[in-house]
Amino acid sequence: MKKQLGIVGMGVMGRSLARNWAKNGHSLSLYNRRISGSEEGVALALTQQFEELRQAAAYEELSDFVASLEQPRKIVLMVTAGPAVDELIAELRPLLQPGDLIIEAGNAHYLDTERRMSMLNVHKINMLGLGVSGGEQGALNGASLMAGGTPSAYALAEPFLKSIAAKTPSGQLALKHIGPGGSGHFVKMVHNAIEYAEMQAIAEAFEFMYTLMGLDYDAIAQVLEAWNGSSQQSYLLEITSRILRTKNEQGYVIDRIADRAAYNQTGAATLVEGALWGAPLSMVASALFARFISNKKAQRQELAQYAERSLEAVSVSPDELKQAYAFTRIINHYQHFEMIAAFSERLGWKVNLSDLCAVWSSGCIIRSTLLQQLMPKVNGQLSVLFDKAAREELFAQKPSVKKVISAAMENDLPLSSMQAALIYYQQLTQEQSSAALVQAQRDYFGAHGVYLKQSAENLTFYPWPK
Ligand code: 6PG
Repeated sequence: MKKQLGIVGMGVMGRSLARNWAKNGHSLSLYNRRISGSEEGVALALTQQFEELRQAAAYEELSDFVASLEQPRKIVLMVTAGPAVDELIAELRPLLQPGDLIIEAGNAHYLDTERRMSMLNVHKINMLGLGVSGGEQGALNGASLMAGGTPSAYALAEPFLKSIAAKTPSGQLALKHIGPGGSGHFVKMVHNAIEYAEMQAIAEAFEFMYTLMGLDYDAIAQVLEAWNGSSQQSYLLEITSRILRTKNEQGYVIDRIADRAAYNQTGAATLVEGALWGAPLSMVASALFARFISNKKAQRQELAQYAERSLEAVSVSPDELKQAYAFTRIINHYQHFEMIAAFSERLGWKVNLSDLCAVWSSGCIIRSTLLQQLMPKVNGQLSVLFDKAAREELFAQKPSVKKVISAAMENDLPLSSMQAALIYYQQLTQEQSSAALVQAQRDYFGAHGVYLKQSAENLTFYPWPK
């Protein structure tokens, strides 16, 4: 009997998705490459290790794997994003036939996805770019799935995607055909950028409580649990308090973890894409740069000797800190929703942001009550500040944000994401900015022209005194 679905790549995500599909009754072929000495019999071992994978067929030879699948073939690729995907597709392509489908489920760059789709299209092979969020647990028990590609590619994949998608709080599936081309991988990339700034904001609140408010890990965990029981509920808050409370015989585990944060490409790719098209993504920039600088550990250690840091008592309450945190999150979400809206418009994708909030309200890493609150609001909004309720909320929170940032500044505690959020808000609500001077400088040294107030459409080249 031929199998319904093939999965390539038996790393943590590939094997977890395979187990989820198997539990949901799909017949599977599993493939993992063979590398003598390091990766041998990987797929076979999994079929022996997990009860639900007993019926799955295991392969190390790609042609046998492909031949084991019913037609049109549906093959999920779950391998490290980048050249490995291209190499794999180059090997697979001659083995496939018109009408077959490749579902690329890694964290691919959306432009790579579009390039691969065009190449496969020449051979009439379907491809779906699938954003998958939720880590190992999501892959195993229900993930958030963002699909991009043609309606026919989606239709072939849909029955398989439905069975492994998480359920949203309203009982729907956390699965959406986002749009054509690389749109699925694009929104997954932006999801990760939101994730970066969400993580950074929690880390800053933690550091503020620990360093300036003198709270210990359990007390901080208690504060975060209370926040999680409120409108600030999120998966990331939930896991953070669990992390802070985790102890073993050597004490708190967090004390033994080096302060150097790793990263893959998606945060940086969002920033770069946004910057190339004029999207002011200061929130992911602040989170990303904090990670970059965290990796300069040796320099930080040396330079810390020369920096005097005063530590003075601060009179900030947990509630004021919570307001600064909430403010930061609203700005973070809207910055990225605006970016998606702008790209969707430019590329004709017609991404429905409310649907995206629904897909992100379950299964994925950034799931939170805020996404459910934003669901009815995001479509058609130019900016958060055009939503009256959000505008009033931000306005009410602003004094607390300033108080928290001032206290941190006084004590040389860098709260990069909270500051970035406040500066974004201040810039966006400033009627008259200093950009007139920047225009004039460009025109003075480079004859780039300026737009005058009374003729905003026409460039004027001013005869500056030289
Ligand atoms: C998810 C995550 C996942 C990502 C990790 C690590 O949605 O399940 O976003 O795709 O790979 O969170 O990302 P970084 O290594 O860039 O921090």
